[in-house]
Amino acid sequence: MFSLKGRSALVTGAGNGIGASVARALAKAGAAVVVTDIDEASAKNIADGINAEGGLAEHAVLDVRNKLQAQAAAAQAAALTGGVLHIVVNNAGAIAPAMFPKMTSENFDFVLNVHVGGTFTVSQAALEHLAQDGTGRIINVTSAAGLVGTIGQVNYGAAKAGVIGLTKSLARELARKQITVNALAPLAATNMTQTVRTNEKLAEKQLARIALGRWAEADEIAPSFVFFASDAASYITGQVLPVDGGTVI
Ligand SMILES: NC(=O)c1ccc[n+]([C@@H]2O[C@H](COP(=O)([O-])OP(=O)(O)OC[C@H]3O[C@@H](n4cnc5c(N)ncnc54)[C@H](O)[C@@H]3O)[C@@H](O)[C@H]2O)c1
Repeated sequence: MFSLKGRSALVTGAGNGIGASVARALAKAGAAVVVTDIDEASAKNIADGINAEGGLAEHAVLDVRNKLQAQAAAAQAAALTGGVLHIVVNNAGAIAPAMFPKMTSENFDFVLNVHVGGTFTVSQAALEHLAQDGTGRIINVTSAAGLVGTIGQVNYGAAKAGVIGLTKSLARELARKQITVNALAPLAATNMTQTVRTNEKLAEKQLARIALGRWAEADEIAPSFVFFASDAASYITGQVLPVDGGTVI
């Protein structure tokens, strides 16, 4: 029920952090994975690691704002399983924090474009290849910031709330094709969270918000993605699952 044997997956932003762990976990569950990132070297490194451990992976350069790269990567992933793509994980993310009075419209647009625009572009590019037999999955990545807000990142909060709206609407629209669309709201020790984990002023406050009282490594987050990708989650669509140690309760 949790096996992904015979399935293909495309993971964005998979050169580091949560995306890299998700790519490895999907491969361990049996999926053939195209590891993509805006940074080619990091994507190749993760794909090489999966292959070295006996999995099947390829890599591709994919800036999620680039429609042509998204179309090429989706076709590449589908080709791994006879032209049908099963799993898309829209994980790529970037931040540009600033308090509201100082946030530039460029940084506002940038974060919206990567998260909401990227999820739109990659999902649309993947759609023509996605399985319509009940195994097609779009798994988006949102954040507590999109659920309960955050300070110093109105761009990111707006973007991640946008991902939730996109997820719910796309779930309704693609249900007729038996494709499920869900979002996870993770929390993990990655490059993205380095400042809030190490900054003197922020670290203690941030830790106090996590009910379990500790940061997870990205590998602890990844199995939830495998669940959503698998047959075990075939009747779940349009949902948002926090995987955040009880930050959002
Ligand atoms: N780490 C957390 O606690 C946390 C919390 C909530 C949500 N998230 C979300 O999880 C996802 C992964 O975050 P992470 O913590 O692993 O971050 P990370 O910085 O470790 O990794 C992000 C990856 O995305 C890539 N990337 C950046 N811009 C890109 C673009 N335009 N196109 C393609 N790839 C691009 C980077 O090169 C990097 O490999 C993001 O969507 C992030 O917003 C993370």
